[in-house]
Amino acid sequence: MILLTGGAGYIGSHVAVTLLDAGLDVIVVDNLTNSNQASLERVQAICGRSLVFRHADIRNEEAIYEVLCTYGVTAVIHLAGLKAVGDSAAQPMTYYENNVVGTMRLVSAMTRAGVNTLVFSSSATVYGMPAYLPLDEKHPVEPTNPYGRTKYFIEEMLRDLYASDDDWRIGILRYFNPVGAHESGLIGEDPLGVPNNLLPFVAQVAIGKREKLHIWGDDYDTLDGTGIRDFIHVVDLASGHLSALSHLKQPGVVTVNLGTGTGSSVLEVVRTFEAVSGRPVPYVIGDRRVGDVATCYADPTLAERLWGWKSSRSLTQMCADHWRWQMKNPNGYRGT
Ligand SMILES: NC(=O)c1ccc[n+]([C@@H]2O[C@H](COP(=O)([O-])OP(=O)(O)OC[C@H]3O[C@@H](n4cnc5c(N)ncnc54)[C@H](O)[C@@H]3O)[C@@H](O)[C@H]2O)c1
Repeated sequence: MILLTGGAGYIGSHVAVTLLDAGLDVIVVDNLTNSNQASLERVQAICGRSLVFRHADIRNEEAIYEVLCTYGVTAVIHLAGLKAVGDSAAQPMTYYENNVVGTMRLVSAMTRAGVNTLVFSSSATVYGMPAYLPLDEKHPVEPTNPYGRTKYFIEEMLRDLYASDDDWRIGILRYFNPVGAHESGLIGEDPLGVPNNLLPFVAQVAIGKREKLHIWGDDYDTLDGTGIRDFIHVVDLASGHLSALSHLKQPGVVTVNLGTGTGSSVLEVVRTFEAVSGRPVPYVIGDRRVGDVATCYADPTLAERLWGWKSSRSLTQMCADHWRWQMKNPNGYRGT
């Protein structure tokens, strides 16, 4: 049995599908602060298999310990966390408490229950300003906001944990920019309020829920002047978790990028989305946003070398799948 913390969320629900489809049993623990339990109903409909759901907070060590023991959990994929960069600057203590303290409690429960295999959702945000590109895992780490620092501190904590007890098998996954949705259109990203990420915003403009997209700067040193990011299809990202799990057979800590290795500009995303949806995406160009970098993309070759994992889905497919999800669920899970 695999425990997925944060499994009702955007990435977690796609990881749940991947695990169930691979024949693994899954229990999700989520406090539903940024998700809807309907996602898990959809996961089960897609897979034709059931999973267990426990409404709990990862900071509740006793609840986690009880789940680990009751269900004979053998490994944990830990996605639960708060993830909005802007909010993290406004409420840093909330982020440290939820993400860092939450992970400490989870690890403590795992230690007591004798479960020592952990896959952790980290982020490319830990790299901060790129000193060179593509970003490989040896690139210096210098996060520029509290959210990124929570991820960095957790990474360091997990390395210290392994240094103190070399039975642990830990995979740290640094995600680049997850986008898209499951091809069924049944699960996808369902932001509360104004979306922080590009694709959900573009999709809401295309469907007419928002008037226009605000592009933060078109005077970067890139082909069309807009920022370049490494967008990765969430289903490819989810399969990276299965690869990690299958290869964490030996004790150790391994830190791996999950990206495509290819950057796409904001305008390229807009044009691709317009093409797949057949809808216009009006936009305005504003000033650069403080802290944004011109270009950021991964060197994803370590994941391929270690685990034989690489992404396969194109930007067109990312946009097409996101659009299908948006069309079928104009109000996200709240319409269900
Ligand atoms: N989406 C991205 O762009 C991105 C990029 C890099 C890393 N990540 C990381 O991946 C993970 C999943 O991200 P996502 O995009 O699916 O976000 P999400 O908000 O959709 O999912 C996170 C889930 O964790 C739950 N959660 C939060 N705090 C919890 C707690 N204390 N106890 C129990 N459940 C809790 C939320 O309710 C939510 O369901 C996060 O850790 C995030 O930081 C995301």
